[in-house]
Amino acid sequence: MEKLVIEGAKQLRGEVRISGAKNAALPLIAASLLAPGIHVLHNVPDLRDTRTILRLLESLGLTWEREGETLKIDGTGLRFSEASYELVKTMRASVLVLGPLLARLGQAKVSLPGGCAIGARPINFHLMGLEQMGVRCDLEHGYVDASIDGRLQGATVYFDVPSVGGTENLLMAASLAKGTTVIKNAAREPEIGNLVDMLNGMGAKIEGRDSERLTIHGVENLTAAESTIIPDRIEAGTYAIAIAAVGGDAVISNCEPAHLPSLVEKLRLTGVKVEVGADSLRIVSDTNTPIQPVNVTTMPYPGYPTDLQAQFMALMACSNGLSVIHETIFENRFMHVAELQRMGADIQVDGRVAMVKGLGEMPLTGAQVMATDLRASSSLVIAALAAKGRTEISRIYHLERGYEDMVGKLTGLGATAWKEKE
Ligand code: EPU
Repeated sequence: MEKLVIEGAKQLRGEVRISGAKNAALPLIAASLLAPGIHVLHNVPDLRDTRTILRLLESLGLTWEREGETLKIDGTGLRFSEASYELVKTMRASVLVLGPLLARLGQAKVSLPGGCAIGARPINFHLMGLEQMGVRCDLEHGYVDASIDGRLQGATVYFDVPSVGGTENLLMAASLAKGTTVIKNAAREPEIGNLVDMLNGMGAKIEGRDSERLTIHGVENLTAAESTIIPDRIEAGTYAIAIAAVGGDAVISNCEPAHLPSLVEKLRLTGVKVEVGADSLRIVSDTNTPIQPVNVTTMPYPGYPTDLQAQFMALMACSNGLSVIHETIFENRFMHVAELQRMGADIQVDGRVAMVKGLGEMPLTGAQVMATDLRASSSLVIAALAAKGRTEISRIYHLERGYEDMVGKLTGLGATAWKEKE
């Protein structure tokens, strides 16, 4: 295993280029199961998670090749319908193959993902929606054994809370269903718009993009097409928060600022200067001006993203007052708190609320800390960049699930960071 070593307190300057979005790449890669032929995807990040889903596709009979950021997936060879525990346990987004497999083969056996570091994360909405479309789902031996005779049937499905993965699974299933499906209270994350564009490019008939009501008129066949993965808004937000916390002046390029409405406003409230370009953000953070405390409540898009909560907490630990961070999406997404405390942060947690007492300029000190999940890890990276001295973050495979070449990008901004064997 490898650890990440960071010598902190060096201002960040220059430019960092954002990669394609992990959480768009995963459903778009899964969507290539829906049609034979060569699917061409551009701007695909090379991450541990994208490699995992490609291994899953291979296990289902598909082949693929990557040339730089372009991925060509041949959907022709699909002949198996089982996603094993071995793959699903390493990446719960593997459940995204459920909808496409049912739509194309009429059957799917997918391991139940189980809980994860940030919460229980059930998939009951996915299953409920599919059952309403006529699928029989049996839960046996840790697997969902799902099947349908003939085509899926269009249905009206309502989500109690807007589930990103649930919306994506049903969009894919409904595209090949008989009749019309309506998803009410659908998630509106930009990654879903990216998937809608891909599916419509393949011949699907989906209306209501970016709204909480998606209408899918099922078609008999889809054909392979060419799509481009949107920039990773969470990666862009992570670097924006890092520059704010550490101080400096840097441009985040190849991003989509319109996908970060809440973060841009929150950062401005901290006193940091944010210049919004067409496909870039410039963050100017003057270390002589204290960071103001700002409260954050995570919400489904376009609210403040849960995937940027841990990073913002690291920034608030460097503010000059009290802020309240409320996590409403996942019940256990404060695993980073204990590690931030080891670096000197003053944080108290009460249920889903964290009270962060910012200790002013340079309050954190380097320490040995442990990554527990992807976004918790990036919050430790931000804390390490802002801290005095050396921080060693172990278990960085979590980071590699979702951040492409983080060491290269950080050193490109002037940070001192490297990987070492544990
Ligand atoms: N939920 C249910 N039942 C379901 C589905 C969801 O109760 O069947 C609950 C979840 O437990 C959670 C809430 O609904 O409390 C929202 O979950 P959602 O389904 O939206 O999350 P997801 O699809 O599993 C995606 C991202 C996550 C991101 C969340 C929320 C991907 C691959 N993952 O997960 O990303 O946090 O949406 O925005 O798109 C990450 O990248 O670090 C990450 C965890």
